[in-house]
Amino acid sequence: NLEPTLSITVVGASGDLAKKKIFPALFALYYEGCLPKNFTVFGYARTKMNDEELREIISRTLTCRIDKRENCDDKMEQFLNRCFYHSGMYDSEDDFAALDKKLKEKEAGKLPNRLFYLSIPPNVFVDVVRCASLRASSETGWTRVIVEKPFGRDSESSGELTRCFKQYLTEDQIFRIDHYLGKELVENLSVLRFSNLVFEPLWSRNYIRNVQFIFSEDFGTEGRGGYFDNYGIIRDIMQNHLLQILALFAMETPVSLDGEDIRNEKVKVLRSMRPIQLENVIVGQYKGHSKGGKSYPGYTDDPTVPKGSLTPTFAAAALFIDNARWDGVPFLMKAGKALHTKRAEIRVQFRHVPGNLYRKNFGTDLDKATNELVLRVQPDEAIYLKINNKVPGLGMRLDRSDLNLLYRARYTKEIPDAYERLLLDAIEGERRLFIRSDELDSAWALFTPLLKELEVQKIAPELYPYGSRGPVGAHYLAAKHNVRWGDLS
Ligand code: BG6
Repeated sequence: NLEPTLSITVVGASGDLAKKKIFPALFALYYEGCLPKNFTVFGYARTKMNDEELREIISRTLTCRIDKRENCDDKMEQFLNRCFYHSGMYDSEDDFAALDKKLKEKEAGKLPNRLFYLSIPPNVFVDVVRCASLRASSETGWTRVIVEKPFGRDSESSGELTRCFKQYLTEDQIFRIDHYLGKELVENLSVLRFSNLVFEPLWSRNYIRNVQFIFSEDFGTEGRGGYFDNYGIIRDIMQNHLLQILALFAMETPVSLDGEDIRNEKVKVLRSMRPIQLENVIVGQYKGHSKGGKSYPGYTDDPTVPKGSLTPTFAAAALFIDNARWDGVPFLMKAGKALHTKRAEIRVQFRHVPGNLYRKNFGTDLDKATNELVLRVQPDEAIYLKINNKVPGLGMRLDRSDLNLLYRARYTKEIPDAYERLLLDAIEGERRLFIRSDELDSAWALFTPLLKELEVQKIAPELYPYGSRGPVGAHYLAAKHNVRWGDLS
């Protein structure tokens, strides 16, 4: 009966994601007492440095939500003392063997559990899995590997990656992360639906007119142009983050809250989706723009982006789920960089009230009178429902008001970062919020033909100014499906 010990190895420890998200999330978990008693954190990357230098870097970037709290300095020091660094190449079995030796020293006399976080470019995924898993498999404890997207560029490359992974790891060991699934409001989606009588009965084509998944950022691809140009916004945001939310939104009631049951339902949604027609998609790309005496660069002004690149930084699409629940309901997605605001939300627009007694109060625009449920994922998390209400007074005037659940007004507890929840789940072996390989296959099966068509036909993106509301084509697309974007009305 050995005492368990956990070692967490962040492969790609000197990268941005590790510095900005992974180490701060690990520290937050430590601060909250969520990490096991015995644990060590190893950073692994090519950069030559020692333990102290890694600690220095981490301590500089621990600008997480914890850093102004009580005892933070003491806790940070304790945490940093458990952090170590090992420099090595990603394709070197010897370097991983040396890491393995260090891990074994820490694990001596204990039951070793190992978590590897691959925060590395996709071209070295397979090398690392090959070299690390050889060394990592321990006879008694568990070994799990968290993988960051992109999981390939299309069905073929993703399938190839899955096949390679499976030579070294079982599906149970692979935790494909989509950090949007770790966001508070996204997790809450199922709670809202399945534990409130007022929502689930309305959750179908009978009452819902359309659903919108909106992602916008108010900054461009600055500094990431090289990566981004190879992927584009559809692969970066739609095929994963937005599609995952759509699947959770639209799935049937799972048998239980077990990870397999939930993912079984999600995959059914993905497999029921109608192939995406090119005419139901518009793509855009931001161009340079001057505003208030400041000039903002266009996408192709980035020196790491090839001149004349057609890579979309914006896309909008109308998708359909051909099943009994959702037949004919447009699911609209919109994702873009360098727009006027940073926001992620789900908007559910309900149908008109049949024979509405108050229709004359709304003039000719009955769409303005329909209920809309909004889940604001970020920033400033909120759930609100737009309803029609009588304006107090002697006359009969109606207006649209919000039943508003604003998180910061309702809850004093801070909302954990998505990476905290997901890391904790991986440590606890909870797979619910990670992507199973069949989900991944279905997601790629849906988007690959569209991506190919866009590339083959060299579809030129519609240009939109940096900081604007995006290409006007998105309005026409929505209008074609009798939809108005909720965020713009
Ligand atoms: C990542 C994308 O997956 O998500 C980035 O690669 C994007 O392009 C990021 O900026 C957005 O995440 P968040 O949590 O900041 O909304």
